[in-house]
Amino acid sequence: MTRFGSYRPNVWIKPSSGEVCSAHHDKWKILIKEGSMSKTEKHLKEAFAGESQANRKYLAFAEKAREEGYPGVAKLFEAAAAAETIHAHKHLRVLKGIRSTRENLEEAIAGETHEFKSMYPQMIEDAKAEGHRQAEISFTYANEVEKVHAGLYEEALKDPENFPVKDWFICRICGYTIADEPPERCPVCGAKKQNFMKVE
Ligand SMILES: [Fe+2]
Ligand SMILES: [Fe+2]
Repeated sequence: MTRFGSYRPNVWIKPSSGEVCSAHHDKWKILIKEGSMSKTEKHLKEAFAGESQANRKYLAFAEKAREEGYPGVAKLFEAAAAAETIHAHKHLRVLKGIRSTRENLEEAIAGETHEFKSMYPQMIEDAKAEGHRQAEISFTYANEVEKVHAGLYEEALKDPENFPVKDWFICRICGYTIADEPPERCPVCGAKKQNFMKVE
C-alpha cells in the first residue's frame, strides 16, 4: 500500500475510503503510478542532465560549424539545441525542479557554494596531481566565477522584488560575471575588456 492507495492489476483502491476505482479512473491511476515510480524519477533526472548537455554541446558544435564555413549545419545545430532545451525544461518541470524564485535563488546559492567549496577544489587538486594543466585552468576559472555567482544570488535574495535590471557582462574566456561595465582586465583570467560580451 502506497500513500496513494494499493494496486492490483486493473484495480485501484483509495487509501482514505478503501473504495475500488475502475481501470479508467485516470486520476487515481496516475497518482498510484507516480507513487511507485522511483525509476521514472531517476530517468527524468538522467534525461534532464543528458538533454542539458546536448543543448550546450550543439551550441558549441554550431559555433565550430560556422567557423569551418558550414552555416547551414550551424543553424541546424542551433535548432536542435533549442529543441533540447524544451525537452530539458519539460523533464525538470515534471520533476518539480522549478519552484518559487526565492526557493530557486536558495537552490542556486547552495549549488554554486557546493561547487566552489568542495567540487572544484577537489577537481583542481586531482588535475594538479595528474598534471592535467588545461583541466586545472578550466576548473580554476569556473571555481572563481562560482564564488561571484553565489554572491550575486545572495544579493538578489535579500530583496528580489527590488533587485534592479542591470546590463550584465560575461568574460568569454572564464565566464566572470559583472554588472554595468566590463573591467579593463578580467580579475579572474586577466583577459582584456574587449573579451567581454553583453548578455542580451
Ligand atoms: Fe555559476
Ligand atoms: Fe575572464
